[in-house]
Amino acid sequence: MDYLTFLLVILHVHKALCEEIFWDTAVKFAENMTLECVYPSVSSFTQIEWFKIHGVQKKFIGIFHPAHGVVVREPYDKRLHLLNSTTAPNKVILSFYNASEADVGTYSCLFNVFPRGSWEKKIRVVQSDSFEAAAPLNCHVVSESGKNVTLTFQLQVDWPVQQVTWEKIQPHQIDLLTCCNLSQGRSYTSKYPRQILSNCSQDIRRSSILILNTTAWDSGLYRCRFTAHSGENETFVAKLTIIDGKTDNQYSLFVAGGTVLLLFVVVIVTIFVIACNRRRRRQKGIPFKESWDTKSKAVNNYRSPISATQPMEDAREDIYVNYPTFSRRPKPRV
Ligand SMILES: *[C@@H]1O[C@H](CO)[C@@H](O)[C@H](O)[C@H]1NC(C)=O
Ligand SMILES: *[C@@H]1O[C@H](CO)[C@@H](O)[C@H](O)[C@H]1NC(C)=O
Ligand SMILES: *[C@@H]1O[C@H](CO)[C@@H](O)[C@H](O)[C@H]1NC(C)=O
Ligand SMILES: *[C@@H]1O[C@H](CO)[C@@H](O)[C@H](O)[C@H]1NC(C)=O
Ligand SMILES: *[C@@H]1O[C@H](CO)[C@@H](O)[C@H](O)[C@H]1NC(C)=O
Ligand SMILES: *[C@@H]1O[C@H](CO)[C@@H](O)[C@H](O)[C@H]1NC(C)=O
Ligand SMILES: *[C@@H]1O[C@H](CO)[C@@H](O)[C@H](O)[C@H]1NC(C)=O
Ligand SMILES: *[C@@H]1O[C@H](CO)[C@@H](O)[C@H](O)[C@H]1NC(C)=O
Repeated sequence: MDYLTFLLVILHVHKALCEEIFWDTAVKFAENMTLECVYPSVSSFTQIEWFKIHGVQKKFIGIFHPAHGVVVREPYDKRLHLLNSTTAPNKVILSFYNASEADVGTYSCLFNVFPRGSWEKKIRVVQSDSFEAAAPLNCHVVSESGKNVTLTFQLQVDWPVQQVTWEKIQPHQIDLLTCCNLSQGRSYTSKYPRQILSNCSQDIRRSSILILNTTAWDSGLYRCRFTAHSGENETFVAKLTIIDGKTDNQYSLFVAGGTVLLLFVVVIVTIFVIACNRRRRRQKGIPFKESWDTKSKAVNNYRSPISATQPMEDAREDIYVNYPTFSRRPKPRV
């Protein structure tokens, strides 16, 4: 008998992995809001059910069956639609169009997948200000799409870490990415639609996540929280910006074009200024042979190494060629 009790206790403890996080996604309450579930692979579903969770009870909202269609139960049919996605066959959406405060709470989508069994995601609807406002930034990471990105945080204080969680934060939504209970050395399997790799090992004051093959969709705020046995916690927030490789090329092309244009303008202005100066000097009748000689020497010094050592730089060559041919013209007149 005692042995059985012990077994039950063990079972209960095992169920307690990251238990206080009883949701996978938190969504900000709004009159029009959408709750999404994406099954991590494309499989054949027998059916997908939606529930609202009240303590240990589940209240049925509706069901989607690929062959038989959609059924939504009574009070809910007046304030929400149950949709399947046209873009992804493994995605279902609960779309409220007239939600009231009574709709705050926790929802569950339950996929029945043949032959794997069931898969459940819990979504919590909370009344809140923008989630991003409560996340002061620690650093900003910029990367290009298609690259792998690792975000790492090192805990400074010296208390024993019990749990590490990573979340992605958007103004209207928080997604749990990983939750690692260090005393168990195990991670909670996230219901986030992207695969996020992370380590969950005994001795860590440092935690990192690896996002493979990033796209612009991965941009946003990532929050890491270390929690101690005593309940103390320390959070870090990184902003990740993924820029499109193509945009980057266009940008450098734009910069290069701008530089050439600027050089061109500088050359024109220089020529114009020299021409004006010369005319003014001629009008004043001041002899400028001396100054011309030094200038001519300077030009020659400058030009010869370019033509001798870098004959390939056509653009630069053109620019300097303009200067001497123009300024040499009046030489015979002097
Ligand atoms: C982590 O696991 C330990 C041992 O199983 C458990 O006692 C503890 O409650 C868990 N911590 C959290 C935050 O879930
Ligand atoms: C919700 O959507 C309906 C129709 O789509 C629209 O009339 C209404 O203004 C929206 N409400 C809010 C708060 O955006
Ligand atoms: C969405 O559901 C309808 C039936 O309600 C079905 O005809 C359609 O093929 C489904 N679309 C996808 C992408 O599964
Ligand atoms: C929204 O719900 C309220 C009551 O909760 C109702 O009076 C109103 O007609 C509903 N609006 C729509 C567009 O269904
Ligand atoms: C990203 O990581 C994967 C797996 O570790 C590797 O196969 C791939 O080459 C990496 N991609 C880049 C751009 O580094
Ligand atoms: C996890 O740990 C292994 C070995 O220590 C390391 O090679 C790998 O890069 C780590 N992964 C992450 C995401 O930190
Ligand atoms: C990376 O993502 C892009 C776009 O989502 C996709 O076309 C490409 O095949 C992916 N590459 C790898 C190695 O997964
Ligand atoms: C983290 O600690 C702060 C106080 O430092 C507390 O207000 C907050 O509720 C804690 N958060 C969690 C998730 O334990």
